[in-house]
Amino acid sequence: MCHQMAMKKEAQEKLKAEELRKAQAASEIPIIWILGGPGCGKGTQCAKIVEKYGFTHLSSGDLLRNEVASGSDKGRQLQAVMSSGGLVSNDEVLSLLNDAISRAKGSSKGFLIDGYPREKNQGVAFEERIAPADLALYFDCSEDTMLKRIMARAAAAAVKRADDNEQTIRARLQTFKLNTSAILELYADKTLTINAERDVDDIFQEVVQAIECVLKKKAKAAAQC
Ligand code: AP5
Repeated sequence: MCHQMAMKKEAQEKLKAEELRKAQAASEIPIIWILGGPGCGKGTQCAKIVEKYGFTHLSSGDLLRNEVASGSDKGRQLQAVMSSGGLVSNDEVLSLLNDAISRAKGSSKGFLIDGYPREKNQGVAFEERIAPADLALYFDCSEDTMLKRIMARAAAAAVKRADDNEQTIRARLQTFKLNTSAILELYADKTLTINAERDVDDIFQEVVQAIECVLKKKAKAAAQC
């Protein structure tokens, strides 16, 4: 009985992996996850990618902040979680991302999913409900650098983000530390770790190489379909 159940589970997992592979080959535009701690430079690199490739940039943090700005009850609940440095429920984040992806799908050249996944189950849910990611770029940066960058951004900002204060930044760093190794382990085969302690343009050169590689793979897969 146990053996039969194990065989069934194995067959289901193989089928799932095969479906994912087919969906990935069939999807013509790239989906790229942008990972890294608070202040590592995710938004900065996404802006440069958009400029060069015209991809659609969807930042989970921005989508949540838009919801907060709407003044809704839901927005107030989201703000409380974000101000604590914790993670908002994935149902909320994935639903916002899914809506934004659906709206842009027809005209998009590619999707940058910035700040997602933040824990491994988010990645699993995204690939099950939306589509498999082609690549994850992980911007690796020390906590000290990330803290300094956000404090400098906050000092220069005309309107400061509610979560850009030292106490919340430390909580955000803690949340990031707790969850990230599991994500990197699960998605090791599609993740490129980039040293983000360098000049913005040096980092971007590595980003471009990785994206060019994905675009070539996509073109090749499309030609075989
Ligand atoms: P989010 O808005 O995603 O914030 P974050 O991850 O903390 O990242 P930041 O936007 O602060 O920084 P960044 O990495 O984009 O760096 P940037 O390019 O601006 O999330 C906020 C909150 O929303 C979360 O805490 C959570 O509560 C919630 N949330 C979001 N996603 C969620 C999810 N998936 N699930 C659940 N909850 C979620 O750069 C920072 C500064 O450094 C800038 O001033 C920049 O000019 C400078 N800089 C950048 N690169 C360099 C460089 N190479 N050298 C020198 N300076 C640099």
